[in-house]
Amino acid sequence: MTTERTLSIIKPDATRRNLTGKIVAKFEDAGLRVVASKRIHLSAAQAGEFYAEHKERGFYGELVAFMASEPVVVQGLEGEGAIAKNRAVLGATDPAAAAAGTIRKDFALSKGENSVHGSDSPASAAREISFFFSGLELVG
Ligand code: CMP
Repeated sequence: MTTERTLSIIKPDATRRNLTGKIVAKFEDAGLRVVASKRIHLSAAQAGEFYAEHKERGFYGELVAFMASEPVVVQGLEGEGAIAKNRAVLGATDPAAAAAGTIRKDFALSKGENSVHGSDSPASAAREISFFFSGLELVG
């Protein structure tokens, strides 16, 4: 397995409840390293661009409004097979379907307010990391 990087977003429902540290601990316990990190408040335009692939979905407006509602913490995570490893730690999109011990099982409120986002493929990871970070900001 090769070393990869992936993009994580700790979403507004989690930053609001002061869960950033508890969520990062789960990444680190799973063998992922934080190689970039910042807390930002996305505009609706930025959130809409980030999630552009979901534009035709019924929940797009709700998703964009939620992601722009309060601060998020965006992070680059690195590790062996980091993309799959991160998604395993996140758990299923719907917390009701998420496995025990996953972030969404422990913390998510609903399918929409589901605490975390993680890139779903190498192509998405590359696009999403460069959406938020320059090469200089990624330090392994
Ligand atoms: P995320 O991994 O950030 O990728 C797309 C997001 O859309 C997803 O997590 C959910 O937060 C959101 N989403 C997916 N399905 C629904 C839904 N049925 N209702 C509201 N939001 C959804």
